[in-house]
Amino acid sequence: MNVKTNAEKEWLRKLTTGKVAEKKEQETPPNAVVQTEAKRHAPKRSNGFCDVAGMDELKQMVTEGFINVLNNQECAKAYGITPPSLLFYGPAGCGKTFFVEKIAEEVGINFMKVVPDDLASTLVHGTQEKIGEVFRKAERKAPILIFFDEFDAMVPQRSNDDRNYQNGETNEFLCMLNNAAEKGIYVLAATNHPERIDKAVLRTGRIDEIIYVDMPDAKARESLFKLELSKLPSSGDIDYGRLADLTYGYNCSDIAYIVKMASRKMFNASIKEKDKPYKVITQSLLEDSISHKSPSVSSRELREFERVRCEYSPKDEGGKPTTIGFHM
Ligand SMILES: Nc1ncnc2c1ncn2[C@@H]1O[C@H](COP(=O)(O)OP(=O)(O)OP(=O)(O)O)[C@@H](O)[C@H]1O
Ligand SMILES: [Mg+2]
Repeated sequence: MNVKTNAEKEWLRKLTTGKVAEKKEQETPPNAVVQTEAKRHAPKRSNGFCDVAGMDELKQMVTEGFINVLNNQECAKAYGITPPSLLFYGPAGCGKTFFVEKIAEEVGINFMKVVPDDLASTLVHGTQEKIGEVFRKAERKAPILIFFDEFDAMVPQRSNDDRNYQNGETNEFLCMLNNAAEKGIYVLAATNHPERIDKAVLRTGRIDEIIYVDMPDAKARESLFKLELSKLPSSGDIDYGRLADLTYGYNCSDIAYIVKMASRKMFNASIKEKDKPYKVITQSLLEDSISHKSPSVSSRELREFERVRCEYSPKDEGGKPTTIGFHM
Protein backbone atom coordinates (compact mmCIF):
# COMPACT_ATOMS: atom_id res chain seq x y z
CA MET A 1 0.00 0.00 0.00
CA ASN A 2 1.35 3.42 -0.86
CA VAL A 3 -0.76 5.82 1.19
CA LYS A 4 1.00 9.12 1.79
CA THR A 5 0.32 11.66 4.51
CA ASN A 6 -0.21 15.28 3.53
CA ALA A 7 3.30 16.09 4.75
CA GLU A 8 4.79 13.42 2.53
CA LYS A 9 2.70 14.52 -0.44
CA GLU A 10 3.80 18.10 0.10
CA TRP A 11 7.40 17.00 0.29
CA LEU A 12 7.15 14.94 -2.89
CA ARG A 13 5.44 17.83 -4.63
CA LYS A 14 8.29 20.09 -3.61
CA LEU A 15 10.85 17.49 -4.52
CA THR A 16 9.64 17.27 -8.06
CA THR A 17 9.35 21.09 -7.96
CA GLY A 18 5.95 20.89 -9.63
CA LYS A 19 5.15 21.34 -13.30
CA VAL A 20 6.23 24.96 -13.37
CA ALA A 21 9.79 24.16 -12.36
CA GLU A 22 9.98 21.17 -14.71
CA LYS A 23 8.97 23.48 -17.55
CA LYS A 24 11.51 26.05 -16.50
CA GLU A 25 14.18 23.40 -16.60
CA GLN A 26 13.40 22.58 -20.22
CA GLU A 27 13.86 26.23 -21.07
CA THR A 28 17.18 26.40 -19.23
CA PRO A 29 20.25 26.27 -21.45
CA PRO A 30 21.97 22.88 -21.19
CA ASN A 31 25.00 24.21 -19.37
CA ALA A 32 23.07 26.19 -16.76
CA VAL A 33 23.08 25.39 -13.07
CA VAL A 34 19.65 24.07 -12.11
CA GLN A 35 18.31 25.57 -8.90
CA THR A 36 15.54 23.55 -7.27
CA GLU A 37 14.01 23.80 -3.82
CA ALA A 38 17.01 22.13 -2.22
CA LYS A 39 19.29 24.65 -3.88
CA ARG A 40 18.70 27.63 -1.64
CA HIS A 41 22.44 28.13 -1.46
CA ALA A 42 23.10 27.55 -5.11
CA PRO A 43 25.78 29.75 -6.64
CA LYS A 44 24.77 33.30 -7.42
CA ARG A 45 27.87 34.27 -9.37
CA SER A 46 29.17 32.10 -12.13
CA ASN A 47 32.86 32.76 -12.52
CA GLY A 48 33.86 29.26 -11.49
CA PHE A 49 37.41 28.91 -10.21
CA CYS A 50 38.13 32.60 -10.95
CA ASP A 51 36.21 33.38 -7.75
CA VAL A 52 38.41 31.03 -5.71
CA ALA A 53 41.43 32.58 -4.02
CA GLY A 54 44.45 30.29 -3.52
CA MET A 55 43.71 26.55 -3.40
CA ASP A 56 45.85 26.17 -6.54
CA GLU A 57 46.85 22.60 -5.87
CA LEU A 58 43.27 21.63 -5.11
CA LYS A 59 41.99 23.33 -8.27
CA GLN A 60 44.57 21.51 -10.37
CA MET A 61 43.83 18.18 -8.77
CA VAL A 62 40.06 18.49 -9.19
CA THR A 63 40.47 19.76 -12.74
CA GLU A 64 42.66 16.81 -13.74
CA GLY A 65 40.86 14.14 -11.75
CA PHE A 66 37.24 15.22 -12.07
CA ILE A 67 36.40 18.13 -14.36
CA ASN A 68 38.50 16.94 -17.33
CA VAL A 69 36.84 13.54 -17.15
CA LEU A 70 33.39 15.13 -17.29
CA ASN A 71 34.34 17.49 -20.06
CA ASN A 72 35.95 14.80 -22.23
CA GLN A 73 33.42 12.01 -21.90
CA GLU A 74 34.19 10.26 -25.17
CA CYS A 75 37.89 9.92 -24.42
CA ALA A 76 37.14 8.99 -20.79
CA LYS A 77 34.80 6.27 -22.01
CA ALA A 78 37.55 4.83 -24.19
CA TYR A 79 39.67 4.52 -21.05
CA GLY A 80 36.78 3.21 -18.95
CA ILE A 81 36.91 6.24 -16.65
CA THR A 82 34.09 7.99 -14.82
CA PRO A 83 34.56 11.00 -12.49
CA PRO A 84 35.35 9.83 -8.95
CA SER A 85 32.98 10.70 -6.13
CA LEU A 86 34.71 13.17 -3.83
CA LEU A 87 34.41 13.92 -0.14
CA PHE A 88 35.95 17.19 1.08
CA TYR A 89 36.68 17.48 4.78
CA GLY A 90 38.44 19.90 7.07
CA PRO A 91 37.98 22.78 9.52
CA ALA A 92 35.02 25.13 9.36
CA GLY A 93 35.04 28.12 7.03
CA CYS A 94 37.88 26.93 4.80
CA GLY A 95 35.84 26.86 1.62
CA LYS A 96 34.55 23.29 1.23
CA THR A 97 30.98 24.28 0.34
CA PHE A 98 32.16 27.27 -1.63
CA PHE A 99 34.66 25.19 -3.62
CA VAL A 100 32.08 22.56 -4.57
CA GLU A 101 29.72 25.27 -5.82
CA LYS A 102 32.57 26.60 -7.94
CA ILE A 103 33.22 23.11 -9.35
CA ALA A 104 29.56 23.06 -10.40
CA GLU A 105 30.04 26.35 -12.21
CA GLU A 106 33.17 25.03 -13.93
CA VAL A 107 31.42 21.90 -15.12
CA GLY A 108 28.15 23.57 -16.07
CA ILE A 109 25.89 20.50 -15.91
CA ASN A 110 22.83 20.21 -13.65
CA PHE A 111 23.61 20.74 -9.98
CA MET A 112 21.66 19.67 -6.93
CA LYS A 113 22.65 20.60 -3.40
CA VAL A 114 21.22 18.59 -0.52
CA VAL A 115 21.58 19.57 3.16
CA PRO A 116 20.45 17.42 6.12
CA ASP A 117 17.28 19.47 6.59
CA ASP A 118 16.15 18.52 3.08
CA LEU A 119 16.09 14.89 4.16
CA ALA A 120 14.72 15.33 7.67
CA SER A 121 11.36 13.76 8.33
CA THR A 122 9.28 13.28 11.43
CA LEU A 123 7.93 10.08 9.93
CA VAL A 124 9.46 6.71 10.68
CA HIS A 125 11.33 5.73 7.51
CA GLY A 126 10.34 9.09 5.99
CA THR A 127 13.97 10.10 5.63
CA GLN A 128 14.84 6.81 4.00
CA GLU A 129 12.13 7.39 1.42
CA LYS A 130 13.39 10.92 0.78
CA ILE A 131 16.92 9.67 0.14
CA GLY A 132 15.59 7.29 -2.51
CA GLU A 133 13.54 10.11 -4.04
CA VAL A 134 16.55 12.43 -4.22
CA PHE A 135 18.54 9.85 -6.17
CA ARG A 136 15.61 9.00 -8.43
CA LYS A 137 15.14 12.67 -9.17
CA ALA A 138 18.87 13.02 -9.86
CA GLU A 139 18.70 10.09 -12.27
CA ARG A 140 15.91 11.79 -14.20
CA LYS A 141 18.10 14.89 -14.56
CA ALA A 142 21.36 13.07 -15.31
CA PRO A 143 24.06 13.98 -16.06
CA ILE A 144 24.05 15.80 -12.76
CA LEU A 145 26.34 16.79 -9.90
CA ILE A 146 24.76 16.03 -6.57
CA PHE A 147 26.33 17.65 -3.53
CA PHE A 148 25.66 16.41 -0.01
CA ASP A 149 26.70 19.11 2.45
CA GLU A 150 27.27 18.22 6.12
CA PHE A 151 27.40 14.62 4.96
CA ASP A 152 28.20 13.16 8.41
CA ALA A 153 24.65 14.00 9.55
CA MET A 154 23.22 11.98 6.64
CA VAL A 155 25.33 8.84 6.90
CA PRO A 156 26.27 8.39 10.57
CA GLN A 157 28.00 5.25 11.83
CA ARG A 158 25.45 2.46 12.05
CA SER A 159 24.91 0.93 15.48
CA ASN A 160 24.37 -2.73 16.36
CA ASP A 161 20.86 -1.93 17.51
CA ASP A 162 18.55 -3.04 14.69
CA ARG A 163 15.81 -0.78 16.04
CA ASN A 164 17.91 2.30 15.29
CA TYR A 165 16.02 3.89 12.39
CA GLN A 166 19.20 5.74 11.28
CA ASN A 167 20.71 2.38 10.30
CA GLY A 168 18.07 2.16 7.57
CA GLU A 169 18.96 5.62 6.31
CA THR A 170 22.65 4.84 6.09
CA ASN A 171 21.81 1.53 4.36
CA GLU A 172 19.70 3.41 1.83
CA PHE A 173 22.61 5.75 1.11
CA LEU A 174 24.99 2.81 0.70
CA CYS A 175 22.68 1.34 -1.85
CA MET A 176 22.10 4.58 -3.76
CA LEU A 177 25.77 5.61 -3.79
CA ASN A 178 26.88 2.32 -5.35
CA ASN A 179 28.42 3.24 -8.69
CA ALA A 180 26.12 6.25 -9.05
CA ALA A 181 28.50 7.67 -11.69
CA GLU A 182 27.47 4.90 -14.09
CA LYS A 183 23.98 6.44 -14.07
CA GLY A 184 25.36 9.92 -14.73
CA ILE A 185 25.05 10.97 -11.05
CA TYR A 186 28.34 12.46 -9.89
CA VAL A 187 28.56 12.67 -6.13
CA LEU A 188 30.35 15.39 -4.19
CA ALA A 189 30.14 15.72 -0.41
CA ALA A 190 31.57 17.84 2.40
CA THR A 191 31.96 17.40 6.14
CA ASN A 192 33.78 18.62 9.22
CA HIS A 193 33.65 15.12 10.69
CA PRO A 194 34.67 12.24 8.42
CA GLU A 195 35.24 10.13 11.56
CA ARG A 196 31.46 10.20 12.21
CA ILE A 197 30.64 8.80 8.76
CA ASP A 198 29.86 5.11 8.44
CA LYS A 199 32.99 3.34 7.26
CA ALA A 200 31.16 1.45 4.52
CA VAL A 201 30.25 4.77 2.88
CA LEU A 202 33.92 5.67 2.54
CA ARG A 203 34.62 2.64 0.40
CA THR A 204 35.67 3.18 -3.22
CA GLY A 205 32.68 2.85 -5.53
CA ARG A 206 30.67 4.94 -3.04
CA ILE A 207 33.09 7.69 -2.01
CA ASP A 208 36.22 7.27 -4.14
CA GLU A 209 38.41 10.11 -2.91
CA ILE A 210 38.75 11.84 0.46
CA ILE A 211 40.32 15.27 0.26
CA TYR A 212 41.48 17.45 3.12
CA VAL A 213 40.79 21.17 2.71
CA ASP A 214 43.28 22.85 4.98
CA MET A 215 43.34 26.25 6.65
CA PRO A 216 44.48 28.90 4.13
CA ASP A 217 48.26 29.38 4.08
CA ALA A 218 49.88 32.84 3.81
CA LYS A 219 49.65 32.86 0.01
CA ALA A 220 45.98 31.90 0.09
CA ARG A 221 45.23 34.53 2.76
CA GLU A 222 46.96 37.16 0.65
CA SER A 223 44.92 36.13 -2.41
CA LEU A 224 41.75 36.21 -0.36
CA PHE A 225 42.38 39.79 0.76
CA LYS A 226 43.17 40.75 -2.83
CA LEU A 227 40.04 39.09 -4.17
CA GLU A 228 37.72 40.55 -1.53
CA LEU A 229 39.19 44.07 -1.77
CA SER A 230 39.22 44.06 -5.57
CA LYS A 231 35.43 44.44 -5.47
CA LEU A 232 35.52 47.40 -3.06
CA PRO A 233 36.78 50.99 -2.89
CA SER A 234 40.21 50.46 -1.35
CA SER A 235 43.45 52.43 -1.23
CA GLY A 236 46.23 51.60 -3.68
CA ASP A 237 48.91 50.97 -1.07
CA ILE A 238 47.53 47.96 0.77
CA ASP A 239 50.32 45.69 2.07
CA TYR A 240 48.77 42.30 1.34
CA GLY A 241 51.81 40.39 2.60
CA ARG A 242 51.47 42.06 5.99
CA LEU A 243 47.73 41.34 6.14
CA ALA A 244 48.51 37.68 5.43
CA ASP A 245 51.14 37.65 8.21
CA LEU A 246 48.72 39.19 10.67
CA THR A 247 46.02 36.61 9.95
CA TYR A 248 47.92 33.39 10.68
CA GLY A 249 45.35 30.93 12.06
CA TYR A 250 42.35 32.70 10.51
CA ASN A 251 40.14 30.77 8.10
CA CYS A 252 38.67 32.01 4.80
CA SER A 253 35.36 33.12 6.26
CA ASP A 254 37.22 35.09 8.99
CA ILE A 255 39.13 36.97 6.30
CA ALA A 256 35.98 37.68 4.29
CA TYR A 257 34.44 38.97 7.52
CA ILE A 258 37.43 41.18 8.41
CA VAL A 259 37.12 42.88 5.02
CA LYS A 260 33.38 43.24 5.59
CA MET A 261 33.99 44.91 8.99
CA ALA A 262 36.29 47.45 7.37
CA SER A 263 33.88 47.95 4.50
CA ARG A 264 30.99 48.59 6.88
CA LYS A 265 32.99 51.28 8.67
CA MET A 266 33.80 53.08 5.44
CA PHE A 267 30.19 52.78 4.32
CA ASN A 268 29.03 54.53 7.50
CA ALA A 269 31.72 57.19 7.13
CA SER A 270 30.76 57.74 3.48
CA ILE A 271 27.03 58.20 4.02
CA LYS A 272 27.78 60.92 6.57
CA GLU A 273 29.53 62.96 3.89
CA LYS A 274 27.07 62.60 1.07
CA ASP A 275 28.51 64.75 -1.69
CA LYS A 276 32.10 63.55 -1.32
CA PRO A 277 33.61 60.52 -3.14
CA TYR A 278 33.36 57.18 -1.32
CA LYS A 279 35.97 56.78 1.41
CA VAL A 280 38.48 54.03 0.67
CA ILE A 281 39.35 51.07 2.87
CA THR A 282 42.89 51.55 4.17
CA GLN A 283 45.65 49.34 5.54
CA SER A 284 45.26 50.72 9.07
CA LEU A 285 41.50 50.13 9.02
CA LEU A 286 42.04 46.51 7.95
CA GLU A 287 44.65 45.99 10.67
CA ASP A 288 42.22 47.45 13.18
CA SER A 289 39.53 45.01 12.00
CA ILE A 290 41.96 42.11 12.36
CA SER A 291 42.72 43.11 15.95
CA HIS A 292 38.99 43.04 16.74
CA LYS A 293 38.36 39.57 15.31
CA SER A 294 39.79 36.39 16.78
CA PRO A 295 40.20 33.23 14.68
CA SER A 296 37.06 31.11 14.70
CA VAL A 297 38.87 27.77 14.59
CA SER A 298 40.70 27.09 17.87
CA SER A 299 44.14 25.50 18.07
CA ARG A 300 42.58 22.60 19.98
CA GLU A 301 40.19 21.98 17.06
CA LEU A 302 43.09 22.15 14.61
CA ARG A 303 45.03 19.55 16.61
CA GLU A 304 42.00 17.29 16.46
CA PHE A 305 41.86 17.76 12.67
CA GLU A 306 45.53 16.80 12.44
CA ARG A 307 44.71 13.56 14.23
CA VAL A 308 41.77 12.83 11.91
CA ARG A 309 43.89 13.74 8.88
CA CYS A 310 46.48 11.12 9.82
CA GLU A 311 43.73 8.54 9.56
CA TYR A 312 42.06 9.67 6.32
CA SER A 313 44.62 11.44 4.14
CA PRO A 314 47.21 9.71 1.99
CA LYS A 315 50.80 9.83 3.27
CA ASP A 316 53.84 11.28 1.53
CA GLU A 317 57.19 9.44 1.30
CA GLY A 318 58.09 10.56 4.81
CA GLY A 319 54.88 9.02 6.17
CA LYS A 320 53.29 12.42 6.80
CA PRO A 321 49.70 13.05 5.66
CA THR A 322 49.58 15.17 2.53
CA THR A 323 47.49 18.33 2.71
CA ILE A 324 45.26 17.36 -0.16
CA GLY A 325 45.32 14.34 -2.35
CA PHE A 326 43.44 11.54 -3.97
CA HIS A 327 43.79 8.31 -2.06
CA MET A 328 44.04 6.26 -5.22
N1 LIG B 1 39.19 29.95 -1.61
C1 LIG B 1 38.28 30.90 -1.37
N2 LIG B 1 38.22 32.01 -2.13
C2 LIG B 1 37.33 32.98 -1.88
N3 LIG B 1 36.46 32.95 -0.87
C3 LIG B 1 36.47 31.87 -0.08
C4 LIG B 1 37.37 30.79 -0.28
N4 LIG B 1 37.15 29.86 0.66
C5 LIG B 1 36.16 30.31 1.41
N5 LIG B 1 35.76 31.52 0.98
C6 LIG B 1 34.73 32.36 1.62
O1 LIG B 1 34.51 31.84 2.92
C7 LIG B 1 33.14 31.53 3.08
C8 LIG B 1 33.03 30.28 3.92
O2 LIG B 1 33.40 29.15 3.18
P1 LIG B 1 32.55 27.79 3.23
O3 LIG B 1 31.18 28.04 3.74
O4 LIG B 1 32.68 27.15 1.91
O5 LIG B 1 33.37 26.99 4.32
P2 LIG B 1 33.18 25.47 4.75
O6 LIG B 1 34.53 24.85 4.71
O7 LIG B 1 32.10 24.83 3.94
O8 LIG B 1 32.72 25.65 6.26
P3 LIG B 1 31.82 24.65 7.16
O9 LIG B 1 32.68 23.48 7.47
O10 LIG B 1 31.51 25.46 8.37
O11 LIG B 1 30.61 24.28 6.37
C9 LIG B 1 32.57 31.40 1.67
O12 LIG B 1 31.24 31.78 1.59
C10 LIG B 1 33.43 32.33 0.86
O13 LIG B 1 32.91 33.64 0.92
MG1 LIG C 1 30.21 24.12 4.44
